[in-house]
Amino acid sequence: MAEGTWYDADIDHVIISEEQIREKTAELAKQVSADHTDADGGILLVCVLKGAVMFMADFARALGHHGPSTEMEFMAVSSYGQGTSSSGVVRILKDLDRDITGRHVVIIEDIVDSGLTLSWLMKYLQSRQPASVEVVALFRKPDAVKVQVPVKYVGFDIPNEFVVGYGLDFAERYRELPYVGVLKPEVYARS
Ligand code: XMP
Ligand code: MG
Repeated sequence: MAEGTWYDADIDHVIISEEQIREKTAELAKQVSADHTDADGGILLVCVLKGAVMFMADFARALGHHGPSTEMEFMAVSSYGQGTSSSGVVRILKDLDRDITGRHVVIIEDIVDSGLTLSWLMKYLQSRQPASVEVVALFRKPDAVKVQVPVKYVGFDIPNEFVVGYGLDFAERYRELPYVGVLKPEVYARS
């Protein structure tokens, strides 16, 4: 962990380090590339804001080393509100800016928890007649196995704890942490 950052005092422990994220991202990019060598028109990456923004940026660059070419789209959906537990309600806050018909779509997700968000999103995108839809999720929690979501590429299975960092927030903070960690209990108590 970097010394002297403002968040040092708030983090209880690190779950996945910056180095682990970097290595895994390169590995996932290699796999996705190998599976899409014949993808006509390249890959259309669909980032799910805001949590997946760091992963999108790093994954796209890692994929660039291997190909095929990529284009980027951003969607924002909401299932959690301000708290730390799922409401089960998915709302579109920002939709795709273009038609994805016939495109090879790869959804870039930060974390699959209950799987509610992703299963809804996959149905939504599939209804728009893409050539294919796959999911790359950097993190997955144990609850995810309860919902039928075919996530082809998973970075890390992590414990069933609320985590922050590398795009993941608590009340919109901690997204800039280069690693993923668990907050000290007193952080929740004071908010
Ligand atoms: P579901 O339950 O639908 O949730 O799979 C997926 C979305 O919920 C958010 N999420 C988290 N955000 N720390 C966070 O900051 C967490 O531990 C966490 N677990 C789930 C996230 O936006 C994810 O896309
Ligand atoms: Mg998300």
